[in-house]
Amino acid sequence: MDIAVLPSHLVDQFGRTIDYLRVSITDRCDFRCVYCMSEDMTFLPRAQILSMEEIYAIVSAFVALGIKKVRITGGEPLVRKGAMELLAKLGKIPGLQDLVLTTNGSQLATLAPALKAAGVKRINISLDTLDPEKFKSLTRTGDLATVLAGIAAAKMAGFESIKLNAVILQQRNHQEVVQLVKFAIQHALDISFIEEMPLGVVTEHDRFESYYPSHLIRQDLSAHFTLLASEHSSGGPSRYYSIAGTTTQVGFISPHSENFCSTCNRVRLTAEGRLLLCLGNEHAVDLKAVVRAHPGNSYSLKRAIVDAMQLKPEKHEFNLQEQPIIFRHMNVTGG
Ligand code: GTP
Ligand code: 5AD
Ligand code: SF4
Repeated sequence: MDIAVLPSHLVDQFGRTIDYLRVSITDRCDFRCVYCMSEDMTFLPRAQILSMEEIYAIVSAFVALGIKKVRITGGEPLVRKGAMELLAKLGKIPGLQDLVLTTNGSQLATLAPALKAAGVKRINISLDTLDPEKFKSLTRTGDLATVLAGIAAAKMAGFESIKLNAVILQQRNHQEVVQLVKFAIQHALDISFIEEMPLGVVTEHDRFESYYPSHLIRQDLSAHFTLLASEHSSGGPSRYYSIAGTTTQVGFISPHSENFCSTCNRVRLTAEGRLLLCLGNEHAVDLKAVVRAHPGNSYSLKRAIVDAMQLKPEKHEFNLQEQPIIFRHMNVTGG
């Protein structure tokens, strides 16, 4: 087969260059965050998820096609056996500029130094509240002190940057945005505030009633800090502001109030091996079928990836007042 016909980078039908791959290595998690999961979740059986070798083969094919940044996510990626070995292998793929991780922080107290040694450059850690009781109620199973120890260990390990992610829900943690920013400033971290997305059915709260838009968070913060619109970008959906007199960047991820799809640069691989072209749509290609039908044949994989780009939809449409149209919970894609 003629390998020369493959492009050196990926472009979709709307002219967007795709150079960022998010990889969910497991749908399992030790937390059950109320916006992400229902209380009793059924997880995928082992045989149905990609092996570490298959993940490595797929990521390598993407990097050969111009992917520059790979974010490892879950569920909670660090609960999967072999995660550290996989990260160390991925960190050595020539041409991969940025290997980054999103985690709930529960394992960082022990794993942070090994992650740094594996070549992980930056990490994002979920932290929705600094109140231990609220933390328990939002994560259902998590322990705040463990995550705070994890954040401290990550600081010690010396990553290029650490960003906190806080999903803000009206009447649950919206009163805490100023405290969370003070914490970020005190520890020289960045922080992003996220509007909840209607992925999967959750019954614990009403997503419409819990909606707390980014502009209200900015208003709350403005009473305490001087927010300066910043050019800083990770190529992602976050709109950043710096806080005068500090190194902290505050980002706002606003899928409802400020649509960012026109600059979308990413696709997602689920633990099951589906290549999802958009977080808010079901357009997907089964890369597990390709890698299992043609083991060791990177051309078939690359061809399938190049062709998949044509399926990437223009944008997501979320409506908090209706039942979700996307039935997969966030733990399937890791955000
Ligand atoms: P970088 O872009 O690498 O800085 O990271 P990020 O902040 O996008 O990644 P992270 O894993 O920390 O995700 C934070 C939140 O952003 C999650 O809730 C994601 O679901 C959301 N997010 C990331 N990418 C997209 C996207 O393409 N569309 C939508 N709607 N949300 C996204
Ligand atoms: N809406 C918005 N963000 C979510 N996350 C999980 N579920 C949702 C949701 N339904 C966030 C987590 C984590 C990131 C990967 O995704 O808090 O920070
Ligand atoms: Fe786990 Fe992250 Fe989902 Fe919370 S948001 S349940 S930490 S995957």
